[in-house]
Amino acid sequence: MTHNGSVPRLTLIAALGRNRVIGRRGEIPWRLEGEQAHFKATTMGHVLVMGRATFDSIGRVLPGRRTIVLTRNPDWSHPGVETAQSLPEAIALAGPGAEIFVAGGGQVYAQALPLADRLVLSEVDAEPAGDAFFPVVDSRDWVESSRMPRPGYTIVTYDRVAGRARYRDGAAPIRPPDYAAMMPITYRVAGSVATITIERPERRNALNAAALDELDAAIGRCRADDARALVLTGAGGHFCAGADLTELEDVEFTQHLAGVLERLSTLPITTVAAISGSCMGLGMQLAIACDVRVVADDARFAVPVAKLGLMVDYWTLDRVRRFWGEGAARLMALTATVLTADDAWRLGFAQARGDLAAATELAASAVGLAPLSQAGTKIGFDCDGPLEVARYDAAFARAWASEDLREGRAAFNERRPPKFTGH
Ligand SMILES: NC(=O)c1ccc[n+]([C@@H]2O[C@H](COP(=O)([O-])OP(=O)(O)OC[C@H]3O[C@@H](n4cnc5c(N)ncnc54)[C@H](OP(=O)(O)O)[C@@H]3O)[C@@H](O)[C@H]2O)c1
Repeated sequence: MTHNGSVPRLTLIAALGRNRVIGRRGEIPWRLEGEQAHFKATTMGHVLVMGRATFDSIGRVLPGRRTIVLTRNPDWSHPGVETAQSLPEAIALAGPGAEIFVAGGGQVYAQALPLADRLVLSEVDAEPAGDAFFPVVDSRDWVESSRMPRPGYTIVTYDRVAGRARYRDGAAPIRPPDYAAMMPITYRVAGSVATITIERPERRNALNAAALDELDAAIGRCRADDARALVLTGAGGHFCAGADLTELEDVEFTQHLAGVLERLSTLPITTVAAISGSCMGLGMQLAIACDVRVVADDARFAVPVAKLGLMVDYWTLDRVRRFWGEGAARLMALTATVLTADDAWRLGFAQARGDLAAATELAASAVGLAPLSQAGTKIGFDCDGPLEVARYDAAFARAWASEDLREGRAAFNERRPPKFTGH
């Protein structure tokens, strides 16, 4: 069966956890009663498009459906499978009027989301660890059209809001999205140190809503990956020059930003900001959401609220004051003075001087340390009120009762490095 119209209809079909995890080490991290039957019934008779990794994890052609596998390897083949070297090529191969179901995995969902008309998501009531993710969905683009609760998950269908199509325009030919513009944040992990890089050098890494979404996703990924330390940095010689001013007036943006800062600052691992060039406004907020700061000689700092007629939230003001000292905080916020790397070093805002390599080295030095001590101590540094002190006390009790404490003592006595597990 095909749908009406000459442009193929594209549906993303996926099962995802609350943390957007969809897979772990090539496998699906759950077993859900009736989910496979739902997938089969929904996709039967249509075209499946999937990444080569997902096909490998399934290992066979699913009956009753055309299967197009995306691969960049021209030598890859499998009986009964068509191949395409790009998503637009796969869509063209499916043909006019086709009903295409994009069946994953993470790489392919990320590329297909901007083209999609519909999302059929099994929203799983779990937050498993994983290494493949569904992309961040901008809720403004989608409207829920059905919801079916099942044991442990809910199948929700979303249709693209008319007029919010970003990369399709009626029957116009499908244009490949500008991936570079869509990937303003990059994330990688090496030796248990995650590095998140803001990559909008043409805007001195100022963040807009899409970049903020990606940053949020990268922070979530860092948590899901069990990275042991994080470096946050900017590409092209700047940390982050602020927010795109056009978006600042958007209340949704500032609310989302507050959430992102909260998630960054409460990561239970040591976080290091590697700061060069401009670190202003929103850049300053990111810097103070991290535990320690490494600054390059050309770093410049500002809180230019009074220049713009804005105010920052109390979280920001309080932290700027705590991390810089009240005099410097008042100077920046009330006179819009730009401070230098030397100022940051002199006033203790920076804990080390150097570049990204120095920041990464510092982060790596935290990797082998006891996870419960780091997580609990971070709670203590941000305690505000008796409720939070109770959380600190609980973390304290947990650390003192942990196997890691015994391991730390044994390693000390045996003069060997400890092997901490976080338990
Ligand atoms: N929960 C769910 O609903 C669900 C659904 C599907 C998959 N998964 C999970 O997702 C994970 C796999 O996802 P993944 O992100 O690792 O891999 P993936 O998206 O399945 O496949 C990635 C591969 O697809 C090919 N590819 C991607 N973009 C391409 C492009 N533009 N042009 C040509 N080829 C392209 C490349 O293959 P080559 O390397 O051959 O060039 C790439 O290595 C697994 O854990 C799987 O279990 C979960």
